[in-house]
Amino acid sequence: MARAEFSIKALFLILFLAYDTLECVHGAESIQGLGINWGALASHPMDPRIVANMLKDNRIYKVKLFDADSWVVSAFSGTGIEVMVGIPNDQLSKFARSNWDAEDWVKQNITKHLYNGGVNIRYISVGNEPFLKSYNGSYIRTTFPAMQNIQKAIDKAGIRDKVKVTTALNADVYESSSNKPSDGDFRDDIRDVMKEIIQFLHETNSLFLVNIYPFLSLYQSESFPKDFAFFDSQSQAISDNNAQYNNVFDANFDTLVWALKKAGYNDMRIVVGEIGWPTDGNQNANPNYAKRFYQGFLKKLASKQGTPIRPGPMEVYLFALFDENLKSIEPGNFECHWGIFRYDGKAKFPIDFSGNGEEKWPQEAKGVRYQEHKWCVLSAEVKNLSLVPGTLDYACANADCTSLGYGCSCDNLDLAGNASFAFNQYFQTRDQSVEACNFNGMGSIVTEDPSKGTCLFPIEIESSGYMVTTISIVTSFLIGLSIFFITS
Ligand SMILES: *[C@@H]1O[C@H](CO)[C@@H](O)[C@H](O)[C@H]1NC(C)=O
Ligand SMILES: *[C@@H]1O[C@H](CO)[C@@H](O)[C@H](O)[C@H]1NC(C)=O
Ligand SMILES: *[C@@H]1O[C@H](CO)[C@@H](O)[C@H](O)[C@H]1NC(C)=O
Ligand SMILES: *[C@@H]1O[C@H](CO)[C@@H](O)[C@H](O)[C@H]1NC(C)=O
Repeated sequence: MARAEFSIKALFLILFLAYDTLECVHGAESIQGLGINWGALASHPMDPRIVANMLKDNRIYKVKLFDADSWVVSAFSGTGIEVMVGIPNDQLSKFARSNWDAEDWVKQNITKHLYNGGVNIRYISVGNEPFLKSYNGSYIRTTFPAMQNIQKAIDKAGIRDKVKVTTALNADVYESSSNKPSDGDFRDDIRDVMKEIIQFLHETNSLFLVNIYPFLSLYQSESFPKDFAFFDSQSQAISDNNAQYNNVFDANFDTLVWALKKAGYNDMRIVVGEIGWPTDGNQNANPNYAKRFYQGFLKKLASKQGTPIRPGPMEVYLFALFDENLKSIEPGNFECHWGIFRYDGKAKFPIDFSGNGEEKWPQEAKGVRYQEHKWCVLSAEVKNLSLVPGTLDYACANADCTSLGYGCSCDNLDLAGNASFAFNQYFQTRDQSVEACNFNGMGSIVTEDPSKGTCLFPIEIESSGYMVTTISIVTSFLIGLSIFFITS
């Protein structure tokens, strides 16, 4: 009975939230064609229905995903939001080998959603940065054949005009010997396959998808002039023939335009698949810089000025919607912190998606539920700290400690503070299980928030997967109970 009462309350709450979402009218339109990436490499991914509402609240009608998880994709049905789905690199060889697998994938992951009022799937990115230098050529032979087989399956399904096939490439597929855009060309080791891909994109009326990261230019070179990574400085400039460049994004983009021109495709449609600025994990990754970057970039987009040799409106997907605590940090500790929003859908800094440059906060995720208000810290009883470092390392090897480094949000903690932060990250990632706060007896669960200043000790959200587990435990409990009553 108590459970039934709870459900009715929950139902009213859901109806109330739904009503609230419908009623609200939220400010100006976002920039036309503005999209955003939603990656789900998180221990507690957000409920896709909350995400779909959040995008609508912010008037963002394009989303790019990294796979084609059916539950996620179907959350966008009836929303009108344009969806790009992805095929991960580890599946490229399968689709390169087999027409049948490609057809099956298209049937199960694309065609299924395309009914009237279904999901507006428009693009498939076959692979994600498959030619990245650090992959040592692992996907060079499979990417294009996989694209071709997926395209054949698309043709066979009769959806050629609706769904376009492409591949998301990192800007490291092209380079310029002199740093001048006009010297741009595709990398030697992949020039031939790039020509085939470009011809394919041209024939199928698809688009060239490229990820450009001014932050990485700064990260990779000590001597990189910082202002050149942003959009608000006139001081640094590259002159190239008659073109003047005062930001690295324009210079990078036009290097691609030149490379395409040399390959014979001057008018190829270019879409920026990822661009953004992280907020933690490095001394140049913080909310102030991210705010400055997005403000300049969004204003530039709204102005439709384009780049010196490709003037006009641009199409871009920002990177990214949320922080992802399970992303590989091999490229750098900032990798877990690309979110414009935190892991729980709260905004980190003001951002104006209309490009008017107003100091305003975006619409946050609505209806997010948190786990209990408790944290795991180093017990106050531990006076001898000699055993702490080993335990701390263990916690950090299994949870995200990237906020502890130099210039990061938690860089002013002492050893005990470091340990508490690490213990808590480990504990929250494991759904606050009591065993996850043991640490050889050094851990202690507290109910007072240990967060200090910029250093947030997070509490995880109840991710959808977690909800399902809870519900099934309750269900099995109720079933068990009824069996008990029937048999006794
Ligand atoms: C559809 O996509 C999902 C997620 O990418 C994948 O797990 C599944 O295997 C795909 N279906 C087929 C038939 O390949
Ligand atoms: C690429 O090669 C480097 C150096 O040989 C190696 O450390 C790295 O693990 C390789 N990466 C892949 C994805 O094979
Ligand atoms: C702290 O613990 C270590 C390891 O158990 C021990 O070797 C050391 O003597 C202790 N230090 C003090 C001051 O008790
Ligand atoms: C805390 O951790 C960070 C990152 O590992 C480290 O740089 C710093 O020195 C640590 N602080 C103390 C007091 O051990």
